[in-house]
Amino acid sequence: MKILVIGSGGREHALVWKLAQSPHATQMWCAPGNAGIAQERLAKNSALVECVNLGAEDLPKLLVFAQEKKADLIVVGPDNPLALGIVDLFQKNGLRIWGPNQKAAQFESSKVFSQNFMEKYGIPTARAGTFSDAALAKKFAASLDGKCAVKADGLALGKGVLICASMAEANKAIDEILVGRAFGVAGANIVIQEFLEGMEISLHALCDGKTAKLFPTSQDHKRALDGDRGLNTGGMGTYSPTPFLTETQLAETGRKILEPFTRGCAVEGIDFHGILYPGIMLTKSGPKVLEFNARFGDPETQVYLPRLENDLVELLDASVSESLAKVELKWSPMSSVCVVMASGGYPGSYPKGKVITGLYEAAKLPNTKVFHAGTAKSGNEIVTNGGRVLGVTAWAKDLKSAQAVAYAVVEKIHFDGAHFRRDIAAKAL
Ligand code: AMP
Ligand code: GLY
Repeated sequence: MKILVIGSGGREHALVWKLAQSPHATQMWCAPGNAGIAQERLAKNSALVECVNLGAEDLPKLLVFAQEKKADLIVVGPDNPLALGIVDLFQKNGLRIWGPNQKAAQFESSKVFSQNFMEKYGIPTARAGTFSDAALAKKFAASLDGKCAVKADGLALGKGVLICASMAEANKAIDEILVGRAFGVAGANIVIQEFLEGMEISLHALCDGKTAKLFPTSQDHKRALDGDRGLNTGGMGTYSPTPFLTETQLAETGRKILEPFTRGCAVEGIDFHGILYPGIMLTKSGPKVLEFNARFGDPETQVYLPRLENDLVELLDASVSESLAKVELKWSPMSSVCVVMASGGYPGSYPKGKVITGLYEAAKLPNTKVFHAGTAKSGNEIVTNGGRVLGVTAWAKDLKSAQAVAYAVVEKIHFDGAHFRRDIAAKAL
């Protein structure tokens, strides 16, 4: 099978790495990929994965490429091409593509859509209202004493959520998004949710339009600094599983979300093929959905895929062809930890082009994998090329060992200004 993966981050490196292990994969491309992805080889025939210089949002050129190469399966990593309708476009042209179509991708691309859906079908979520009028929004925020999350409706590079602790903050947030259009048209509508307290975790379910198969738990670390301080980032590290939900609680939580989700999709004519990734707050009154994403998490994927025992090509194929009901997901009992090494300054501005050393030494340790996120090749060297640079991942019999090994690998890798959290998975230990 000839496979094209779209995207260039740590998530896509993990997807390529796992897909490349499948005996079904005979040729693979990644658009645009990164320096780590370009080093992957297929288990079947040792062929290198080829990175092609096409942007993940350049739909017309990606289509031409997939058609020319006669790709048998296209796998979409990031949210933007999904929201732009890449799945609809490729399907219209007779290609086999994995991911939700534009209507289904609304679970991520529109928070108003998601909130209304959750309320309509009884998915446990925060008390919330959706608004386009600032005065009405402020009235609702006042009913929550200003303790709320104000969210731009559309995609805003992960920055469209403002957490408020007072009426003054809530009024300011509403004015910034709705009136000042701080996030452009993405903020023409907003969702205001009550502020929920608790531990935040990530769930994933692979869906085929009819059946949804739940993954184990994982937890991201979104803040830049140790102890959950500093600015919000795309994610500074993850681990799986978390001890904060037992197997029984996970199954129960999954049921409370996925049953109404599947029922609602059927009623609304939404054909969801792909990953549903709910962000969950474990509150005193039970788990509640903060938001839905319609793709694999980054860096959740980096801790899930080393634990996945199934052939990923077969799973994604079953998700496209509506045959997931017959498949059982199998997970290694090992724990995994991913520590993100970022560029100095991230999530603010940061330099690029810093030489990365120690990768060769790091690659020698068993049960570890350094996933590349923002890297590029410069001559014979690998250099930094993004905010999140590497996802250093280890798996072991328990979380503590996996954490120790991940940090031992981190110590081997160097680049100017490298910044990482030293407390990934610490909450769980
Ligand atoms: P979202 O993109 O909706 O997941 O929001 C980004 C982050 O804001 C989440 O990861 C949470 O840490 C935080 N957040 C979102 N909604 C709420 C809420 N209702 N209460 C408390 N924190 C929230
Ligand atoms: N782990 C955060 C995200 O993928 O959105």
